[in-house]
Amino acid sequence: MSGAGTPDHGGGAADHGGGDAADWSARRARLMAQMAQVAPGAVAVLATAPVVPRNGDSDYPYRHDSAFYYLTGFTEPDSVLVLVAARGAAPARAILFCRDKHAEREIWDGYRHGPDGARMAYGFDAAYSIDELDAEMAGLLANVPALYYALGHSAALDAQVKRWLDQLRRQSRGGIEAPATARDLLPLIDEMRLFKDGAEQALMQRAATISALAHTRAMRASRPGLYEYEIEAELLYEFRRHGAQFPAYPPIVAGGANACVLHYQQNRARVLDGELVLIDAGCELDGYAADITRTYPVNGRYSAPQRTLYELVLAAQQAALAAVRPGARYAGIHEAAVRVLAQGMLDTGLLQAHVVGNVDDVIAEQRYLQFYMHGTGHWLGMDVHDVGQYRDLATPCKPSRPLQPGMVLTVEPGIYVRPAAGVPEQYWNIGIRIEDDVLVGAAGHTVLSAAAPKTVAEIEQCMRAAP
Ligand code: GLY
Ligand code: MN
Ligand code: MN
Repeated sequence: MSGAGTPDHGGGAADHGGGDAADWSARRARLMAQMAQVAPGAVAVLATAPVVPRNGDSDYPYRHDSAFYYLTGFTEPDSVLVLVAARGAAPARAILFCRDKHAEREIWDGYRHGPDGARMAYGFDAAYSIDELDAEMAGLLANVPALYYALGHSAALDAQVKRWLDQLRRQSRGGIEAPATARDLLPLIDEMRLFKDGAEQALMQRAATISALAHTRAMRASRPGLYEYEIEAELLYEFRRHGAQFPAYPPIVAGGANACVLHYQQNRARVLDGELVLIDAGCELDGYAADITRTYPVNGRYSAPQRTLYELVLAAQQAALAAVRPGARYAGIHEAAVRVLAQGMLDTGLLQAHVVGNVDDVIAEQRYLQFYMHGTGHWLGMDVHDVGQYRDLATPCKPSRPLQPGMVLTVEPGIYVRPAAGVPEQYWNIGIRIEDDVLVGAAGHTVLSAAAPKTVAEIEQCMRAAP
């Protein structure tokens, strides 16, 4: 779908395809309905992300705030959304504060919608200049029962809220009341964001497919002696030529022992014959992330020990994927992966049964952490580690929550073998992770990243087809 019917003003505000004005307006309506249930007439304030200076006169590439974008589709900085929940006969209202039109700045920096343009393109009930925010908030917050905002996330917003409240309290002799209650806005939005609607699912499928193509390209381009950054360049080329705006996170291209550094990002070493390459990379398309990991032999053929551990991680991933279905608990995914990995650690001699006991002992005493020290996944959405509770907070012991259709998560077991006494030398410095993006459906799940070669046979065949 196109971005709010706005034209492409080349070089101007990004026009994203992650929904249309009706989607964003419907989300605002759902949020305001929740607010009205708790406190009719309550007001919510949500600011987008600031521009962040990088060095000299350069800023980091601008990235809007995810929650703000979810409710607006609006990608210009210096913007604030104000929502007023319905009260009695007074209907709910969505108000945008944004940058004014500016003939000169638009010559330098590109198109700005301005309040009127934004109101019409994005379906707000009203829009004002961001310069009028303080003055307007005094009226908008007068005599409302509650203020919703992102409590404690931004010192600047906390201070701004305090100024608004101080201003209202000074008017108390005139019968004006400040909101008596502050409520955290983000948990409401986070829970909505956890369930991806049709437009979001389609976009995440595209982000995952582009990312899978990038992994395929990187495999095909790989040969011993390349630098990790040369392989990274293949990923970035593929992301960009399909229109993805950014990598969703700094890509990891880790040859050999570097794969055992979980957050390796330097990507500057040479990958030698006989080594594996672990690539953890995904693009961000119109605000939505993919997050895929593949691990392959740089020379196109897994050695016997590499293959043994690869098949083990793959089996763990298959067991974890089988646990992704509606009604199953989130924690069951990790438990399934850990059981397969723990048994495999015993079978391969990474762990020795006479020292650590059987598979149940390995799990109970968390001996597997020596080689598998991270979780098996996370929610995925606009943020790579997306928002949303992992536990059912409404239930006293807060159990892991059941999976439901529309949730998207990663499934990413791995194994990382650092040299150590008692660990068979043939496995030293092997690091393997296999990560896919998975949508929970009505009956089971869909692997959004299925286009990236994954089995030993698929990967070796893909690399044989190298240019
Ligand atoms: N790429 C970040 C992660 O896998 O969680
Ligand atoms: Mn991940
Ligand atoms: Mn990842």
